[in-house]
Amino acid sequence: VAVQIGSAPGWNGLGWGHDDEVVLVPAHWPQAEMMMRIVIVGAGAVGGFIGGRLALAGKEVVLVGRPPLEQAVRTRGFRLVEPNGTRHTGQGLTAVASVAEAVRSGPFDLALLTVRTYDVRDAALEMDKSGLKGIPVLCVQNGVGSEDEAIEVFGQQRVVVGSLTLPVTVPQPGVVRLVRERGGLGLATAAVGADPGAVVAAFMGSGLRVRTYPDFRSLRWSKLPLNLLGNSISAVLDMGPSDIYAHPGLVDLEVSALREVRSVCNRLGVRLVDLPGYPVRALMWLVCRAPTAGNAALLKWSVAAGRRGRVASLRAGLKDGRLTSEVGHMNGAVVRWGGHLGIPTPANRLLWEVLVELFSQKQQWTHWAGRPERLAAEWTRAKTLA
Ligand SMILES: NC(=O)c1ccc[n+]([C@@H]2O[C@H](COP(=O)([O-])OP(=O)(O)OC[C@H]3O[C@@H](n4cnc5c(N)ncnc54)[C@H](OP(=O)(O)O)[C@@H]3O)[C@@H](O)[C@H]2O)c1
Repeated sequence: VAVQIGSAPGWNGLGWGHDDEVVLVPAHWPQAEMMMRIVIVGAGAVGGFIGGRLALAGKEVVLVGRPPLEQAVRTRGFRLVEPNGTRHTGQGLTAVASVAEAVRSGPFDLALLTVRTYDVRDAALEMDKSGLKGIPVLCVQNGVGSEDEAIEVFGQQRVVVGSLTLPVTVPQPGVVRLVRERGGLGLATAAVGADPGAVVAAFMGSGLRVRTYPDFRSLRWSKLPLNLLGNSISAVLDMGPSDIYAHPGLVDLEVSALREVRSVCNRLGVRLVDLPGYPVRALMWLVCRAPTAGNAALLKWSVAAGRRGRVASLRAGLKDGRLTSEVGHMNGAVVRWGGHLGIPTPANRLLWEVLVELFSQKQQWTHWAGRPERLAAEWTRAKTLA
């Protein structure tokens, strides 16, 4: 099911169906008409961006973030910097520094959880303890597995899994920048066959391209190849993708990591699907079949188009001196599932193990940084042992 919101005024700005089929939603869809109150827990880049768009679409939004965000919004307001100009969200958006404070401001119709994967469990428990009960929770993360932690806390019926394919950054507290317009938000209910209508309705008028999917596991696994590309290797070596893909051994490592994702998905019975703005199936088909030389060009092109010169998230985390990362829900998830299913995953294992050691500072980054031949040799060794 595809939902295109806010871009086709001829039919009330809202329609849904498969890519080649549009079904009109009735003009008086009750949930869409309602004034919604939405709380967003973990208001960094993603939470701030979605919150800003929802506020601009007339929803009442409360961001729960860190104290610098709360202070910035209170003193200067909240700004969205988009490719076509900067917009101020105005009165419809406020920020607080704890879930409890948000809950004291009154009931909500919808919650969004937009922390990083490794914070999902704690933030979900905080939401539950603070009394945010009974409403749907849209969890927008990358990687695989944090959705199960959310389901454990909120229950299958309340969780809606989200996958965002738009890149966003936080240049300073209270300001979020949308890097590129291509992309959107994929949604899938955690309970099979449940109606995502109330969540979809929240995005009416937001200008976000929203598409719903029947299988939340498909949605999360399909985003994983996009997160792995030009990310883990770039972090280990502190190098940009074009330098990495000049080394055939590293192209082989990258492609092998993606092939392992495909093997795990095949065995799990999870179908890869296209995401808003990203033909994931074609990309995987090409990458998994092309010879190394062809893949180097394809990878260079797709990573350059996707990242637009931005430093990938894991490398940025190491540069910022973070002690934890999402790699456990990325390469680590492939290794865990490969282990359960008896599928060898040496490429993801190598990258996951090195990155865990780098983030926990058990290894010096200088051991790997700028040394592609060292990682390529390690990969040859790991492949031989597998
Ligand atoms: N940025 C993108 O372009 C993008 C695009 C698609 C998907 N994603 C995915 O979306 C998720 C969120 O990414 P992001 O880039 O928005 O991360 P982010 O900018 O780090 O935002 C998360 C925010 O949540 C805060 N936080 C953590 N626990 C909290 C709590 N209990 N209460 C209140 N605030 C809390 C964090 O503060 P501290 O840092 O102080 O802990 C941080 O400010 C990740 O899984 C990411 O991979 C990101």
